[in-house]
Amino acid sequence: MESIFSFPQEFIFGTATAAFQVEGATHQDGRGDSIWDTQTRLPGVIKNGDTADFACDQYHRYEEDVALMKDLGVSAYRFSLSWPRLQPEGRGAVNPQGIDYYNRLIDALLKAGITPWVTLFHWDLPQSLQDSEGGWLSPHIADHFGDYAGLVAHAFSDRVKNFFTVNEFYCFTDKGYVQGDFPPRLKLPPHQAFAVRHHALVAHGRAVQALRASARGPIRVGFAENSQIMVPVIETPENVEAAKLAFRESNGAFITPILEGAYPERYLQTFGNEVPAFNPEDFKIIAEPLDFIGLNMYTPVYVQAEGKTGYKITHPTAHHPRMHVDWLKVDPSIAYWGPRIAWELWEKDIYITENGCSGTDVPDETGAIVDTDRVFYLRHHLREVSRCISDGIPLKGYFLWSLLDNFEWNHGYSERFGIVYVDFSTQKRSKKLSYSFYKGTISRGRVV
Ligand code: GAL
Repeated sequence: MESIFSFPQEFIFGTATAAFQVEGATHQDGRGDSIWDTQTRLPGVIKNGDTADFACDQYHRYEEDVALMKDLGVSAYRFSLSWPRLQPEGRGAVNPQGIDYYNRLIDALLKAGITPWVTLFHWDLPQSLQDSEGGWLSPHIADHFGDYAGLVAHAFSDRVKNFFTVNEFYCFTDKGYVQGDFPPRLKLPPHQAFAVRHHALVAHGRAVQALRASARGPIRVGFAENSQIMVPVIETPENVEAAKLAFRESNGAFITPILEGAYPERYLQTFGNEVPAFNPEDFKIIAEPLDFIGLNMYTPVYVQAEGKTGYKITHPTAHHPRMHVDWLKVDPSIAYWGPRIAWELWEKDIYITENGCSGTDVPDETGAIVDTDRVFYLRHHLREVSRCISDGIPLKGYFLWSLLDNFEWNHGYSERFGIVYVDFSTQKRSKKLSYSFYKGTISRGRVV
C-alpha cells in the first residue's frame, strides 16, 4: 500500500447505474409500464421532452458496456432490475424474457470478472400497482415487494450475492408523494406521507426476509440511501458529536428506524400532537438485520454543536461551490464524515453506493471530452475515501455514479453524470478524461 491516498488491495471499485436510466427498450419483450414511463409522457415535465425509451440502450448494448467496465478495471457493477420488466403488473405473472435479459447481463459480468451488485428497486414502480392500489400508499405494497424480492432471489442468487433492497427512500416517497416532482406526482398531507414512508420501510424489511428465505446460498443485503450527510462545520469533539446526533435524527424517517428498530423521538415530534398510528410489531420486519449500509452521497449539510437541541444545521449557501447541476454543492469531506459517522452509530460495513457529478462535457475539436471539473470532484472525494479507510473505518467499496451519461430523471439528458460520454443520437460511447483518471486510480491503488 503506497502511503498517500492509497487503498487496500481488497477495496471494491465499482460503477453504478439504474435500469430506467440506462436500459431503454421500454416497450420490448414483455416489459410493463412503470410510473416513470408515465412521467415522461406528461407534457412539459421532463427537460426537452426527453423520454427513456432508448436511454443508453443497455438492454441491447450490455456486452459493449461490460467490455468498457472490464477495460476500466472495476471489480463490481451496481445496477438495478426493472420490476416491470420482470413482473409487468408488479404481481403475479413473471416475464421470462425479463429473466433472460438479466441472466445474460449477469453472466457477461461474471465472465468479465465483475461482481454484480443488484438493486431491486430504483424508482420504476409498475404502473399497474399505482393504478390498482395507490402504489406506496397501500400497505399491500410490502407483500408485492416481498414476492418480487423472492422471485429475484430464486432466479439470480446462484450468481448474485450482494443485494440492495431499494435506492433512496426519500426520493421515491417524499419526492413522489409529498412534493410531487416525481411520479405519481402527489402532494399528500403529513399523515399520508408518514404512511407512504412507513410502507416503504415494511416493504424493505419484507424484501430482506424474502431474499434470505429464497436465496440459493449465502447472500449479503443492505440498502442504498441518500442520507443527509452531516459534516461538522469545523472538527471539534463537540461538533463531531453534534453531527452524529444530527445524522441519526435527520435520517429518522428511514435509515435510523431500519437500523435501530424504532423511530427517533425527534421524527415523531414533527407530527405534533397527532403522531400517526402504526403497528409497533412492524419493526420486527423493518429492522431485519442487514449486512452493510450503502450511502449515496453528493452534497453536504453542515452541523455545529448548540446547547438546547444539541446541534444546529446550516445548508450550503447560494454561493457555495457547486458542480453543473444546481443542487450539487461540493464538499469532498462528505466521503469521510458520511462513512465515519454511520460506522460510529451503527457499526456495519459501509459502501459508498453513489458519488459523482454532472459536467458540461462538450467534446473538443478532436472529439476528446476533457472533463477537468469531474476529475477534480472525483479526485478529492476519493482522497477522503482513502483518509476514512486510514482512520480504520470499514469503508469497503466505492461505486461511481455513473458509468455512462444517462437519463437523469426530470433533467432528461441535459445533465451528464457519466465517465463515458454517450452520443444519444448514435449511441456511440466515448471515454472522458475522468474515465482515464478512475482507471489509473484503480490500477495503481491510489488516487492519481
Ligand atoms: C441519485 C439517484 C441516481 C442519479 C443520481 C444523480 O439520487 O439515485 O439515480 O440520478 O442521483 O442525480
